[in-house]
Amino acid sequence: MTPEEFRLYGHQIIDWIADYRKTLAQERVMSMVKPGAISKQLPSLPPNEAEDFQQILSDLQEIILPGITHWNHPSFFAYFPSNATLVSVLGELFSAGLGVQGMSWQTSPAATELEEVVMNWLREMVGLSKNFVGVIQDTASTATLVALLSARERTTNYGQNHGGLQTETSPLVVYTSEQSHSSVTKAALLAGFGKDNVRLIETDSELALRLDLLEKAIQEDISAGLKPCAVVGTVGTTNSAAVDPIAGLAKLAKEYNLWLHVDAAMAGSAMLLPEYRVMWEGVELADSVLFNPHKWLGVAFDCTAYFVQDSQHLIRVMSTNPAYLQTNVDNEVNNYRDWGIQLGRRFRALKLWFLIREQGVLGLQARIRRDLENTKWLKEQIEATSRWEIVAPVLFQTICVRHIPSTDMSEADLAHHNLAWAKAINESGKAYLTPSIVKGKQIVRVSIGVEATTRTEVEQLWQLMQEMINTNKKPPIY
Ligand SMILES: Cc1ncc(COP(=O)(O)O)c(C=O)c1O
Repeated sequence: MTPEEFRLYGHQIIDWIADYRKTLAQERVMSMVKPGAISKQLPSLPPNEAEDFQQILSDLQEIILPGITHWNHPSFFAYFPSNATLVSVLGELFSAGLGVQGMSWQTSPAATELEEVVMNWLREMVGLSKNFVGVIQDTASTATLVALLSARERTTNYGQNHGGLQTETSPLVVYTSEQSHSSVTKAALLAGFGKDNVRLIETDSELALRLDLLEKAIQEDISAGLKPCAVVGTVGTTNSAAVDPIAGLAKLAKEYNLWLHVDAAMAGSAMLLPEYRVMWEGVELADSVLFNPHKWLGVAFDCTAYFVQDSQHLIRVMSTNPAYLQTNVDNEVNNYRDWGIQLGRRFRALKLWFLIREQGVLGLQARIRRDLENTKWLKEQIEATSRWEIVAPVLFQTICVRHIPSTDMSEADLAHHNLAWAKAINESGKAYLTPSIVKGKQIVRVSIGVEATTRTEVEQLWQLMQEMINTNKKPPIY
């Protein structure tokens, strides 16, 4: 494609995206295509001859779009908000257009230095102290893996430089709550701890990790000759947005010499509001903290902010430094290839920079406050209406709710009923929710926070919920 062709089609595509966002509310939220429906319309072999780009765009419209679930739809209340604000989409475009590989300072000094600046901005925005230094990782899953690798290496005094875990005399143990995200267990497995050495600690009635059970587990492990290594606390769990007692975790971490990693993937954005910072009190004592600007904050996926207290330790764990990557300024600069797993790095700082400047901190705070207000409004409606139950504390923007048609219904029938109305809403195309299970109860999660979601859509959702409880549809298999 020549620059002139790029100009031609690029303008068309920008127009297309602008129209798409403008009219998105008219689309069905969830894609209803059946498995295989998209791939069967596409040739199984790549084209030998060049194809007309206009034809490719037309196929995008006809074949691909029906298979898209619209995450930026104002009535998207499923999973979590994954806001791709348009200004951050422009940041993505710039990043791809520049085609930068930001592995080292020298491979594009601005990519590194802008990342340093925006990570300092973000640190200030969420109220972390200057003891923390930030770096962008692709996802929370990767950042948690990096954290557990760092924990492993601290406990083993850099065992990776010798025999690794294979020569440790005692197995190392990781602790987290049974409500933590699956990425925590996955990271522990990938970091070599082994499933036998991952303790999923029970939670209390608020779905927060129980410190008494954590301490008991640590002591039992020590008595059994195991070596406690790391604890991962969550601020805003995926299922119900519950909060672990971070200050309590920090105290135990200090006492038993554990690495404390805080996963605030979703709720970290709420820390832009000073009044919410009490929720992660103690975070200053964590060794590492992550949150996902690619969720609620509005940076187009992917962008995880990862903060550590000891960047020298991170670099020691992550760096390889072969001759072909060395430069004569290495002692003066940050080479972010040494701050994570990947070598090649996209210029993600651009989209963060665009978003923060275009919105201003006050603009971002206002949107997050709006979403929290909308959540509070819906919570109050549900609480004021008989036969509806909120099953978990509503601390941020997630509501776990179920409808109880009659008190003598069995849990199985209740599950059937709640899955049925959620399915009816999702299939109506008018909104999209995620069913889940909290403490053995079938619930439906309402996650508020898409940039385009206003009070109107939240009101419409509540109306729809009350209509759809009368559905007779069969429950889905999720
Ligand atoms: C609390 C929490 N941690 C981690 C993740 C994983 O995020 P990512 O997709 O960035 O790996 C999620 C995703 O929903 C989450 O809610």
